[in-house]
Amino acid sequence: MKPDELRNLYLSFFKNNGHEIVPSASIVPENDPTTLFTGSGMQPMMEYLLGAKHPKGTRIVDSQKCFRSQDIEEVGDNRHITFFEMLGNWSFGDYFKQEQLEWLFKFLTRDIDLDPNKLFITVFRGNDKLKIGKDVKSVEIWKKLFLQVGIEAKDIDFSEKTGLQDGRIFYYDETKNWWSRAGIPDKMPAGEPGGPDSEVFYDFGADKNIHENSQLKDEVCHVNCDCGRFLEIGNNVFMQYQKQADGGFKELSQKNVDFGGGFERILAAINDTADVFQTALFIPIIRHLEKISDQKYESSSNSKRSFRVIADHMRAAVMLAADGVYPSNKEQGYFARRLVRRSIRYAKMIGVNQLFVADLIPVIVEIYQNSYPDVSQKLVKIQSVLVQEENKFAKTIEKGLRELEKYQEMTPPVAIDGAIAFRLYETHGFPFELTQEIAHEKGQKISLEEFENAKRAHAVMSRDASSDKFKGGLQDSSVQTTKYHTATHLLHAALRKILGRHVQQKGSNITVDRLRFDFSHPQALSQNEKIQVQDQVNEWIDAALPVKVEHLRKSDALESGAIAFFVEKYPDEVTIYTIGDGDAWISKEFCGGPHVKNTSEIGKIEIFKEKAASAGVRRVYLK
Ligand code: ALA
Repeated sequence: MKPDELRNLYLSFFKNNGHEIVPSASIVPENDPTTLFTGSGMQPMMEYLLGAKHPKGTRIVDSQKCFRSQDIEEVGDNRHITFFEMLGNWSFGDYFKQEQLEWLFKFLTRDIDLDPNKLFITVFRGNDKLKIGKDVKSVEIWKKLFLQVGIEAKDIDFSEKTGLQDGRIFYYDETKNWWSRAGIPDKMPAGEPGGPDSEVFYDFGADKNIHENSQLKDEVCHVNCDCGRFLEIGNNVFMQYQKQADGGFKELSQKNVDFGGGFERILAAINDTADVFQTALFIPIIRHLEKISDQKYESSSNSKRSFRVIADHMRAAVMLAADGVYPSNKEQGYFARRLVRRSIRYAKMIGVNQLFVADLIPVIVEIYQNSYPDVSQKLVKIQSVLVQEENKFAKTIEKGLRELEKYQEMTPPVAIDGAIAFRLYETHGFPFELTQEIAHEKGQKISLEEFENAKRAHAVMSRDASSDKFKGGLQDSSVQTTKYHTATHLLHAALRKILGRHVQQKGSNITVDRLRFDFSHPQALSQNEKIQVQDQVNEWIDAALPVKVEHLRKSDALESGAIAFFVEKYPDEVTIYTIGDGDAWISKEFCGGPHVKNTSEIGKIEIFKEKAASAGVRRVYLK
């Protein structure tokens, strides 16, 4: 099936069931400062899920362009991609579970002819603490639907421990079968909508031994296993709850359905081939790369990985550029830059030694010529910005290579070590992996650990240098200001928890006597809110929470949920401070420190003043 055909079938199926088709919103969210990219179909629909009237009514269908920057480093397996389309149908307080599951089942098994024997389902197990029960209604509906096609669908609990056991419907907890923009219920700020979901998986078949040939072969296989045998192709979110300030959940004024279907993944299921890169959306890109490299996609698992990274990243870079995101050091542009640079690095690994971006772009654009004609119209512009980035990076690489040559030409030649790799990275942005590869070609070994050590040594040196500057007057007071540094993070987390996730730090100022903190919020805090925030901070102080420091790659840090309001200001490697234990952390922020080791060191705090700082920005004082 051609990709355009699948998209059209989906849109018209739901149109025939009373839905209005709307075009995809931009990959760059228009009125949402909390996130850089549209990462799911529901983001542009947020206000309608909360009750605002959609101009086209209560039933909407679309295919939304999405980009998930946190997946950049996951790309390389059979299913992870950064840019994708999410097929979405929406009920804004209109239909609910019965119609949704019935329609979806009909669409999958009749309109696009997927074999129902290969479809598997997950549902929410329920959670007493949340006071939200097991999703028995969805199970009842699914069972009837399967029975209609002659399949007795057995429901199984705890398959993640005991395996598949001939089941078809599986229960999981909120880490798998709950959806909100913020993730699991605990991570949701007050005001955020979410709900249990029911996911549909496609089984590529036990006979292909996908699990047995994977690294997970010693663990039990279940539908959410990462081995690649099962592919999640769609998610029915029953968006009916809203997180409250007290941590509990209340029913929203309307019950919504947010369905998200993975366009690329459904195509892979139609092909019955466990690889999204072997769908018509990627094949032309892969064939082109085979022509300009000296390898075949299938020749080894390493080459396959490189082909996948380049195909994914260049496609994403093209679609981002079409929506006005160009490579730079700032915000969205930072990710566009990484996509192009990583593509170039991986291209080198499969033996592409010439500039290739200009010729590859038309191949990608052609795939979308009917569905997104604006992309073809912008071909020249897209080519110009991405080729410019390729040229820039080529120069970086050239400089780095020249410098590496110099070390080799010395008598005796200097072995490439962590310190040299770090110097190249620091001064030219020369990627560590390239240095490692070149070292490898020369029969030398250098590990990421050596590189990280050199980097850490450098960070310590610059920190010492800057603390020297402040020696003297500030020294005595440093203990108190360190406490306020950590209190800043607690205050920020408490404000976001109690007032909502729109709260963003706008500035702070610390003296020995007090902490001043500015943040976005439309109105003055009530007395009650002030007390709640203050109590929350004191509660965390009393809880004696550990404060942990980590050095991470920026993308890993963002993926782990760390907050950074000036993403572009930070280098590739960042320092993250986390307050609280393990998964139950309460604050995770990009920050240079210093901080106390445990919140108990802070002592009791008090909010003693609150006022406006500027339009939409409040200022609180704490001591
Ligand atoms: N919003 C749901 C998701 O992204 C459909 O999975």
